[in-house]
Amino acid sequence: MQNVQRIVIVDFGAQYTQLIARRVREANVFCEVVSYLTPLQEILARRPVGIILSGGPASVLDADAPHIDPALYAQGIPVLGICYGMQLTAYTLGGTVERASQREYGRVPVEFDVTSPLFAGMKPRSVAWMSHTYHVTAAPAGFVSIAHSENCAFCAMANAEKRIYAVQFHPEVTHSEEGQTVLENFLRNICGCTGDWTMSAFIDQAVESIREQVGPDGRVLLGLSGGVDSSVAAALISRAIGNRLTCVYVDHGFMRKNETESVREVFTRQFPVNLVIVDARERFLKQVAGVSDPEAKRKIIGNEFVCCFADEAKKLEGGSFLAQGTIYPDVIESGSVKGSAVIKSHHNVGGLPEDVKAKFTGGLVEPIRMLFKDEVRKVGEELGMPRDMVWRQPFPGPGLAIRIMGEITPDKLETVRESDAILREEVALAGLDRSINQYFTVLTNTRTVGVMGDERTHDFVLAIRAVTTDDFMTVDWARLPYDLLAKISARIVNEVPRVNRVVYDITTKPPATVEWE
Ligand code: XMP
Repeated sequence: MQNVQRIVIVDFGAQYTQLIARRVREANVFCEVVSYLTPLQEILARRPVGIILSGGPASVLDADAPHIDPALYAQGIPVLGICYGMQLTAYTLGGTVERASQREYGRVPVEFDVTSPLFAGMKPRSVAWMSHTYHVTAAPAGFVSIAHSENCAFCAMANAEKRIYAVQFHPEVTHSEEGQTVLENFLRNICGCTGDWTMSAFIDQAVESIREQVGPDGRVLLGLSGGVDSSVAAALISRAIGNRLTCVYVDHGFMRKNETESVREVFTRQFPVNLVIVDARERFLKQVAGVSDPEAKRKIIGNEFVCCFADEAKKLEGGSFLAQGTIYPDVIESGSVKGSAVIKSHHNVGGLPEDVKAKFTGGLVEPIRMLFKDEVRKVGEELGMPRDMVWRQPFPGPGLAIRIMGEITPDKLETVRESDAILREEVALAGLDRSINQYFTVLTNTRTVGVMGDERTHDFVLAIRAVTTDDFMTVDWARLPYDLLAKISARIVNEVPRVNRVVYDITTKPPATVEWE
């Protein structure tokens, strides 16, 4: 990302660091998260217009607390310390940090000095979110308090001349009423950011750097799942190098209604690539025949998937690149930012056999690795991709196979696919498709007695699952309106074969998971 103003966020292990980055991006300012272990020279080499020091679980008074090169404060680059970042700033520059008599946690009314450029345009008193045990009791020389609460004399401090600011509260969380204003004030008033991070600028740069990386003759292979990340990556690469991109889409037969057709349409007409649709439906069905254990199903499908993809990859000419729809949260989580700890290693590369991996001598092409999910969707919209594809809800790799309890048969697949299509249609018609994060139907393996016309029936119970969540780690069940549920239920029992009863899953995660298997 050359030529855009850049903020560097130094991560001290806070749970909210990603959120700070997202808020900065929402203000149309590009930012990168780096570990606190990153040497100052590397931070400076990124030519940041401002530096944000995140919160973190440690206490600056601990012997093994994370620290930072004090020279960071002498570069003339604006700094904003948040929570631990504030205590670190105070401590490093000669102030005093002490354990508070009581922990300050939750929504706290704070008085702000609105003459400070950090708090310009804000109300003099509003609620901010606090979560700290230690606090600053004496500011370093040259600093003044610019916010206080009942328990804390230094809710924020500033050395305006040196453009060093720090806040004890968390401006990045929505519980801080004017948090976004604080961040935007730092970016615009103090760092001089112009808001030059736009998705159309990103697209131009991404296209250019793909061309540069791949060269005039390079070829790229990408596994297309139909999900938003791989689809947007494919569209960008298509724009850069056209049909020197080969996309392999494995149709395992567990996709939702019309999904394969939509992929075919988009990547043959709108973003022409060399599209290989592997029709592996029979192959997968055979593999899972008679299998009802959830883990066994997942394993079989995962392995088969890698085999199908590898078969296609082997056919590719040499000197090639492998593309992936890696996004920024994957980068942060997989440890390249968090210092040493690898929390999650991800995606296709890991699963590919060595001889296949060895074919990709050019390396990896990851055009959206600096983007958050909402930015990926914006890029998709900007590129003119279909709404369904851009706003697609998460869909598990094993697809509908893990939404059929017990053994999978073509009949059961039809039942779950058709009911899922009805649910999606009705949720969209009700205007709820963006506010509910994931919704689908599950074919339980239970039959119950019903009556249809004058006939007794003995058919399946179908469950509806709809959830709201921020991160899918914890979820709540969506409070779908009764009238909507009534309509969906009526349509499903009337239109979908083999179902005579519909139930609604009203379980949170935990203890349940989102998917049933
Ligand atoms: P669970 O069921 O674990 O699901 O609460 C959390 C989120 O992850 C999705 N999910 C998967 N996604 N491959 C994926 O790409 C998988 O095997 C898989 N299993 C679950 C699930 O749909 C939900 O969004």
